Amino acid sequence: MIEKVRKAVFPAAGLGTRFLPATKAMPKEMLPLVDKPLIQYGVEEALQSGVPNIIIVTGRGKSAIEDHFDVSFELEHLLESRGKKELLATVRAVSDMINVSYTRQKEALGLGHAVLRARELVGNEPFSVILSDDVIDAETPCLRQLLDVYEFYAAPVVALMEVPRDKVSSYGIVDAEPVAHNGGRDRLYRIRNLVEKPNASDAPSNLAIIGRYILTPEVFKSLETIEPGAGGELQLTDGLKHVLRSRPIYGYRFEGRRYDAGDKQGFLEATVEFALKRHDLGEKFRSYLKGLTL
Ligand code: UTP
Repeated sequence: MIEKVRKAVFPAAGLGTRFLPATKAMPKEMLPLVDKPLIQYGVEEALQSGVPNIIIVTGRGKSAIEDHFDVSFELEHLLESRGKKELLATVRAVSDMINVSYTRQKEALGLGHAVLRARELVGNEPFSVILSDDVIDAETPCLRQLLDVYEFYAAPVVALMEVPRDKVSSYGIVDAEPVAHNGGRDRLYRIRNLVEKPNASDAPSNLAIIGRYILTPEVFKSLETIEPGAGGELQLTDGLKHVLRSRPIYGYRFEGRRYDAGDKQGFLEATVEFALKRHDLGEKFRSYLKGLTL
């Protein structure tokens, strides 16, 4: 029997320097795409993928995340007394939505270090990791796509996407061989090696790791063993490279559109495209955009 993935870890303790000054006093994960904070998109993806328990790794100045998923009695009371039923339902749905635990990363020492902070809460079972600044719009939630692979191979799986060669140095890049799966050979890969932020000339491919992972608990031991890597940070990619010595890891080139919402350009693209897709805003917003002189 393959052990079920019940927990999703959300590392949210980064400094968000690419979004300063907005992120000076507000966590990057709380930046709204239209009217929902980034992290809520990720949490909804986990729930829609059948992963019910959320673990958020927070840091200093991140209390807005905890408040967001908590009950707000004053706000609910105010909306109720003003007869704003729809808004009240929206606000209640957020706090009713999740079974959430928090742990803290005191210093932003890297993504690997943040994941290691969740060790106690995860325990000895497989788990998923979602980076909420990678927003993925997909018919089947990206995490669900990875879980389908995990449930077949009982091995760690990371989300992959092809990126332009001149962008590889911003990502973890894999050396991987295609594996036949579901009648095709163009989505699933068996990973041979991983490199964090390589130069374009040394990169083994243009297949980049995107912020969705299914991991097994050995990764914690690996993260404890390895030394800090690129940028002086403890890198999850290096932890996975260590895991690879003892078990296979798969990569899945997911179906869907990914936005790098931790970056200004990506955030703006996501905002425009999500607004255009909204039933309540799309039509008006489209005619506004069409009216712009560009
Ligand atoms: P990023 O690489 O986007 O870093 O982290 P960042 O600090 O958030 O943002 P910039 O690059 O300075 O603008 C990817 C994910 O890993 C988390 C972040 O919160 C984000 O979700 N992270 C990163 C941590 O939780 N802790 C860390 O030490 C580093």
